[in-house]
Order: sequence, then C-alpha cells, then structure tokens
Amino acid sequence: MEYAIQATDLSKSYGQGHTQVDALKGVNMTVRPGELFAIMGPSGSGKTTLLMILGLVTEPSEGRVLLEGQNIYNGTGLDLQRLRREKIGFIFQFSNLIPFLTAKENVLLSLELIGIFGRQADARAMELLEYLEVADRAGNLPEHLSGGERQRVAVARALANNPAIILADEPTAALDTERGLSVMRLLRKVSKEQGTAILVVTHDTRMISEVDGVIRLMDGRMVESDGSKQQSQPQSSR
Ligand SMILES: Nc1ncnc2c1ncn2[C@@H]1O[C@H](COP(=O)(O)OP(=O)(O)O)[C@@H](O)[C@H]1O
Ligand SMILES: [Mg+2]
Repeated sequence: MEYAIQATDLSKSYGQGHTQVDALKGVNMTVRPGELFAIMGPSGSGKTTLLMILGLVTEPSEGRVLLEGQNIYNGTGLDLQRLRREKIGFIFQFSNLIPFLTAKENVLLSLELIGIFGRQADARAMELLEYLEVADRAGNLPEHLSGGERQRVAVARALANNPAIILADEPTAALDTERGLSVMRLLRKVSKEQGTAILVVTHDTRMISEVDGVIRLMDGRMVESDGSKQQSQPQSSR
C-alpha cells in the first residue's frame, strides 16, 4: 500500500443558492504512512473542512478519498463510523479530555470503544502514557495537568486504536512555543516510529521545522509555497 490517504479533486460546498459557501475547490493530496504534514492557511480557508472529510465525518460534495487504498465515499455504503473508530485518531485544539476522569481513565475509555477491557486495557493505557512521557500523571484529573500534558494525554488517547491516520486541528494553538514544539516532536516520533500518517493544522510557522511538508490552503484551494517542503501534486484523474 503506497498511500495512507489519497484525495482527488475534493470539493465541498455548504448550503445552496445565494448562501452557498464553497469551502474546498478541487483539492488533491496524498500522504504516505509515516509522513507528517502541516496544513496551513488563513481562517476560513477550508482546513477544518478538509480534516473532517479525511476523518470520515463529512462527505465531500465532489471528489474521491482513498483511505489505505479503499474508496470511502461515492455511494460505497461503507460503515464510516466503524472505519473511523478503527483507522482514525483525532486531536483537537483543547484536548477535550473528560474532566471527571483521570488521564489514564481517559485513555481506557478509548480502549473500551474498540473492545479492549480489563488488565489488557490497563497495561496498554500505561504503555501509551509512558510513550507520551506522561505516565507519572496517570492518576491526575485534567484540571491537574498542564496544557502540554493534556495534549500528550490526548495524543495517547488518539493512539489507542493504533490508527493509520491521525488528524489534529490546531493542537498546539493553546500552548506556548516550547510546549507546542514538544507536542509536535512527539507527533513526529509517532509518525516515524508507528508509521502513522499525520496531518496537523497549525498557524505557527515555528512548527514547520518538525514536519515533512506543508499543505497550504487559500480560499479552499491548495496554493504553491516556496521551499522544498512542498506537497507533491498527484496527477488528477480527470
Ligand atoms: N457547517 C458549515 N456550514 C456552513 N458553512 C461552513 C460550515 N463549516 C465551515 N463553513 C464555511 O466554510 C469555510 C471554510 O471553513 P473551515 O473549513 O472551518 O476553515 P478553517 O478551518 O480554515 O478556518 C468558511 O467560509 C466557513 O464559514
Ligand atoms: Mg478550523
């Protein structure tokens, strides 16, 4: 399998008639296993929409998405909820941890969703927290974690299902530069060591040093950027 994600001619419009918003206008992109890409662009340029389509949350208006080679939309009738649970991990700007559960319990909850319980779940949760260097915070409630620690727990939770793809929407926006960079470095480690394809929306150009390439969006289109770290454009099928 060559690509984790292959998106071709993706378009998405919300609403219709004179209130129609064209959020994406023909986006082409590919991500291989183990690659970490940043998605950048001004507010309203379509970044979240792109993540939601790749995350099997929102259907595109036009175009095609192959997830590990499998055609996802276009009336394939696939069980998207199941596929999402099995293959995708999400990380949000604010960690979205459940406030009344400890760090470890938050990870356990994700393991339960994929049918892992008991001692096995316990061991796996601790292994994930160790991997994200927050094992010593396992028993803390989110309010007793720093912002950076919360995001590390959120990454651990996103890894629970051993996903093919991790989608992160501005995961470092609420962190200072040092903590933001440390989260990006962990995402880089995950991508390289686990072979996970990772897409991270970020506004922070300081994070670029950690990524394999940048996908730049402007008004729903991919735009060229200077430098060598440019997403290569696959051939359109049309
Ligand atoms: N559910 C929605 N309904 C209508 N318009 C939407 C919806 N989601 C996003 N949009 C519009 O689509 C455009 C792209 O939004 P979005 O993907 O959230 O961009 P970004 O994440 O880059 O800020 C914006 O003009 C936004 O207002
Ligand atoms: Mg957004």
